[in-house]
Amino acid sequence: MFPRPRINGITILVIGFALYAISLVCRPLLLALSCVLAVIVPYSYRENDDALSRRILWTEFLDRDDLPRQLRESDGVTIEEGYWINRRGMALMTSTMTPETNDDDDDDDGGNDGSGIRAVVCLCHGYMDNVSFLKRIQFQRFARRNIAVCMIEYEGHGRSDGINALIPRWENLVEDAHDYFRHVTREKFPNVRRVFLMGESMGGAVAYDIMSRHRDSYDGAIFAAPMVKILVTPPPFVVALFERIVGHPGTLNALSHLPWAPSRGDMPHLSFKDKDKMRLALMVPTKYGRKPRFATARELLNATRRISSTIHEFDAPFIVLHGLEDMVTDPRMSEMLYNESRSSDKTIKLYRGMYHNLTTGETDENIDIVFNDAISWVTDRSKR
Ligand SMILES: *[C@@H]1O[C@H](CO)[C@@H](O)[C@H](O)[C@H]1NC(C)=O
Ligand SMILES: *[C@@H]1O[C@H](CO)[C@@H](O)[C@H](O)[C@H]1NC(C)=O
Ligand SMILES: *[C@@H]1O[C@H](CO)[C@@H](O)[C@H](O)[C@H]1NC(C)=O
Ligand SMILES: *[C@@H]1O[C@H](CO)[C@@H](O)[C@H](O)[C@H]1NC(C)=O
Repeated sequence: MFPRPRINGITILVIGFALYAISLVCRPLLLALSCVLAVIVPYSYRENDDALSRRILWTEFLDRDDLPRQLRESDGVTIEEGYWINRRGMALMTSTMTPETNDDDDDDDGGNDGSGIRAVVCLCHGYMDNVSFLKRIQFQRFARRNIAVCMIEYEGHGRSDGINALIPRWENLVEDAHDYFRHVTREKFPNVRRVFLMGESMGGAVAYDIMSRHRDSYDGAIFAAPMVKILVTPPPFVVALFERIVGHPGTLNALSHLPWAPSRGDMPHLSFKDKDKMRLALMVPTKYGRKPRFATARELLNATRRISSTIHEFDAPFIVLHGLEDMVTDPRMSEMLYNESRSSDKTIKLYRGMYHNLTTGETDENIDIVFNDAISWVTDRSKR
């Protein structure tokens, strides 16, 4: 289903001999080794690492009675969740949101397909994120304004197949998301003429790559706090050494999934301005909550380095939204995207006082501001 480091008979034999050799040379070392392993192993492997346990934990979580009402009810919006099978045979969780039939659409300005839907927004979510919980609540705003939403959880994220938060190969994310978006827009929204991409945080880089490669399939992109550039990158020899140890981009070895890559401190505190929403997000038993896995860090580094060196070629219509108090991705990256891209139709909105999680981590009023900017941008570009 997904590549795991293989342990075969030879490996076990070698480990056996190594242990025997250690016991001959220095027995206390054996004890010390066991102590270290006793700490490391439970930290590296957790109950929620595989997809099946994440799905079970999620189902149990939904039985709690202290969850926000909007998680189960959807006001004027039809939400359909399901699993879609990618080319590698993995089941990935998907979700679509459409407005419930609306006869009294008073701001109908044409451009819709007769069902009232004026455009489709295809969401690429961020690292360690998913579309099942806070996004499910907040993104209904689009559907209430007659913009359908389709979203997919990447491999290793949410309830999709894959090891929790492991990104073995960047291209998988980009290809899976585009394949699904093409599939769902053809099947479900054949008559909607405008299709936009939206990417948040790391999803901004995914959306950027999809947009650059499939320029004809989408009419533009919304970037929210996108991760398209790293301001401080390690020197090339460090990267080369790192790749030597954890494998080259797109490959896995025995060390690839260890969750020890350095990253900024406490992500939830850095990304959520609204601490009630943060507490809600932290209640979820399937959250990852460790340092990035080596392979994931390598893929993100490689993708952002490539993207930042091609920004001057990017020419699609886009709007970029960024909080000025963002401590996870620097708003200057969005300014550079805006300044350096070749696009003739580009817009930037920088929000004073807002943090990283623009669509799910701010106060309701701030989230309204962000969505209203995205919705007007889409609406303006969906008229006949
Ligand atoms: C990213 O990985 C690919 C595949 O190995 C490699 O060809 C490319 O040079 C890497 N790009 C950067 C910027 O490191
Ligand atoms: C919001 O914050 C959480 C916790 O840090 C993180 O997992 C998630 O990816 C963030 N979402 C976005 C869109 O930035
Ligand atoms: C889904 O994302 C929410 C934040 O929106 C987070 O709290 C939760 O842990 C994530 N769940 C899974 C299954 O990854
Ligand atoms: C982008 O361009 C504006 C106007 O030329 C300039 O003031 C700003 O410093 C630039 N930002 C970055 C990050 O390059």
